[in-house]
Amino acid sequence: MTRVLLTGAAGFIGGHIRSALEPNHDVVAIDAMLASAHGHSGEHGSGEYGSGDTSSGESGRDITRVDVRDHAALVELLTGVDVVCHQAAVVGAGVNSADAPAYASHNDFGTAVLLAAMAETGCTRLVLASSMVVYGEGKYRNAAGDLVMPGPRTRLADGIFENTDPATGEVLDWTLVEEDAELRPRSTYAASKVAQENYALAWSLATGGSVTALRYHNVYGPHMPRNTPYSGVAAMFRSSLEAGKAPQVYEDGHQARDFVHVSDIAAANTAAIDAALPGFTALNVSSGHPITIGEVASTLSDACHGPAPEITGQYRPGDVRHIVASPEKARRTLGFVAAISPEQGLREFATAPLRDAEGTGAPRV
Ligand SMILES: NC(=O)c1ccc[n+]([C@@H]2O[C@H](COP(=O)([O-])OP(=O)(O)OC[C@H]3O[C@@H](n4cnc5c(N)ncnc54)[C@H](O)[C@@H]3O)[C@@H](O)[C@H]2O)c1
Repeated sequence: MTRVLLTGAAGFIGGHIRSALEPNHDVVAIDAMLASAHGHSGEHGSGEYGSGDTSSGESGRDITRVDVRDHAALVELLTGVDVVCHQAAVVGAGVNSADAPAYASHNDFGTAVLLAAMAETGCTRLVLASSMVVYGEGKYRNAAGDLVMPGPRTRLADGIFENTDPATGEVLDWTLVEEDAELRPRSTYAASKVAQENYALAWSLATGGSVTALRYHNVYGPHMPRNTPYSGVAAMFRSSLEAGKAPQVYEDGHQARDFVHVSDIAAANTAAIDAALPGFTALNVSSGHPITIGEVASTLSDACHGPAPEITGQYRPGDVRHIVASPEKARRTLGFVAAISPEQGLREFATAPLRDAEGTGAPRV
């Protein structure tokens, strides 16, 4: 049976991956139980990076409390491990620059320590949780069909949200982003996800190890963290609806995204673990059914019989306008095709249980 070290096993996605793996894999589940993700009751104990004891996570399943920055603990746990499935990270877009050291420490440094421990113990395969945020802004064409790199969006305050051709001012149409697109991170979190990929690529070149970096698009599903500045937009809409309030939609609601169900993310991880692709491979993991943020909000409102979304016209300067992935390479290399459409999955998500993570504050180093 393939032995898998699963990091971030107590997290939203890690929990679903664990359930998908356990019937046919020998899973070693670890998590530092960060307060920013699990509240102060779940916080890791004393010692530089965590205690290594085993406790029950929110799901009641055993989790070994280990921080991926703890080299000695990892070396011990990696004995006999065939594949590492690395989900542990500080997540979310980051609220301000004060969060930067936490992203750099848990995500960049944590991945570097993990890779060094893998090299030391002869573990040669990594499946890495990456993200669409590595791309930054999506990919665009003009009316003639040529690819155009949009300039910065300078007229947001006038309600002009679409990207335009910096040379002609023509409004551009989005097109599917493939894995060879340039990486242009726009947040501290995104910079740390690029760094994780870069460390893993360098490790693969140096050791001959295998890395499959799965670039998840907008993930949603049961046990997603509730409304915090670090949770995804679907959970924020859900939280508004639970409070009887209309979901607040930024810009004009026409921003295109790909919402992929967490059980499909778990299936993609299982496929990557079982496929053992050689060298470094980055793959988009998406549903293949683009949807706008306005449609996400109205699907949830309908399903909850709640108030219709409010299109606020507000904006965040760092936001990208459209980002939609091509799912083709994941289908070709892993045979992965998402099973749940956003229309079906979001309706179910409207009443799914969420993880309480309120009041736990910003991530700490
Ligand atoms: N949720 C999304 O929409 C999404 C999208 C793209 C990529 N991702 C990636 O998927 C992975 C899982 O994210 P999630 O949404 O489940 O987040 P989550 O916060 O629910 O889970 C992350 C887990 O990692 C743990 N962790 C953080 N730092 C750690 C460390 N140093 N050592 C050990 N454990 C540590 C946390 O305690 C938490 O349990 C992350 O790598 C994230 O970047 C998530």
